[in-house]
Amino acid sequence: MKTYSIAVLPGDGIGPEVLAEAERVMRAAGEHFALRFDFHNHPIGAIAVHQLGDPFPNETRGAVSHADAVLLGAVGDPSLDNAPREQRPETGLLALRAALGVYANLRPVTVYPALADASPLKPERLRDVSLLIVRELTGGLYYGQPRGRGVDGAVNTLRYTVGEVTRVARIAFEAARGRRRRVLSVDKANVLETSQLWRDTVTTVAADYPDVTLEHIYVDYAAMRLVADPGSIDVLVTENMFGDILSDEAAVLVGSLGLLPSASLGAGPGLFEPIHGSAPGIAGRGVANPIGAITSAAMLLRQGLRQPEAADAIDEAVALAIADGARTRDIARPGEPVLGTQAMGSRIIEMLESVVEV
Ligand code: IPM
Ligand code: MN
Repeated sequence: MKTYSIAVLPGDGIGPEVLAEAERVMRAAGEHFALRFDFHNHPIGAIAVHQLGDPFPNETRGAVSHADAVLLGAVGDPSLDNAPREQRPETGLLALRAALGVYANLRPVTVYPALADASPLKPERLRDVSLLIVRELTGGLYYGQPRGRGVDGAVNTLRYTVGEVTRVARIAFEAARGRRRRVLSVDKANVLETSQLWRDTVTTVAADYPDVTLEHIYVDYAAMRLVADPGSIDVLVTENMFGDILSDEAAVLVGSLGLLPSASLGAGPGLFEPIHGSAPGIAGRGVANPIGAITSAAMLLRQGLRQPEAADAIDEAVALAIADGARTRDIARPGEPVLGTQAMGSRIIEMLESVVEV
């Protein structure tokens, strides 16, 4: 039996609740695929600030670098909204991403047919939607120096190197090869130097992938295309900030931010987290949707541990549970029965049993 060490960073708000279900589903899948997981919890975010005065404590930094993969819940807490930057939960998340060197953030957007009416878009727009956002994660405005605030102004720096763009572009082209072989590169090359560099570099990388079609578009038009014609997009690759914004927009296609997983990859252990936030308003009430966390666990198995069968079984179990009518409150129609976080986890585990038995 293979044993993996998983660093679990539940973080804040609904993070612990949704990760508990992800762990449960992973254990259930592990039983069928002869995988054992040692889960070790470590603090990050607001809880780490409150306990240790640091949103990314040294203990957590050491633990994640030795793990086989890292599973994260969410960070963020309104009590720290006015805290100095070093004491903010988000700073802990950015430090974690930098420490792991996870430069490519993969955000697949899958529409579950039974939830087509959970989206405000017309169902016909959503037909054939299956896209993957590849967001550069360790560069750009989030990390550029200098940065700072003066009395009468503030500065952030947008900086990219050819190397940074090349490595994330390669991830996008490789991913496209397993999909519809189309890459849509998003920039603002009509205005920004960094975007001109982005465009030139992605074009250079594309020469190594003659079997993949490359299209460049500006970010403003990309925002429109994502909702006007999402079925035309296969792999969308873009810089850190644009990717942050466009991936929230893409969540509208599936009807709830609570459904979407992500994988952040680099040279070392990967980081897997739902794209939703800590949702302080509903934290601790057992009503949050655990599906984004559970499908993040599936990505962890597939991309982090190279266990595609177990990953597929989880994804299939989630799809079956949704097709069967399982709904947390974010995706329920008025009058539909609503499951809590744990009950949704249990339904998915039941479905998993039926998937692996056949
Ligand atoms: C995300 C989040 C983070 C980001 C925040 C919490 C720093 O919005 O993962 O998309 O902007 O990267
Ligand atoms: Mn975001």
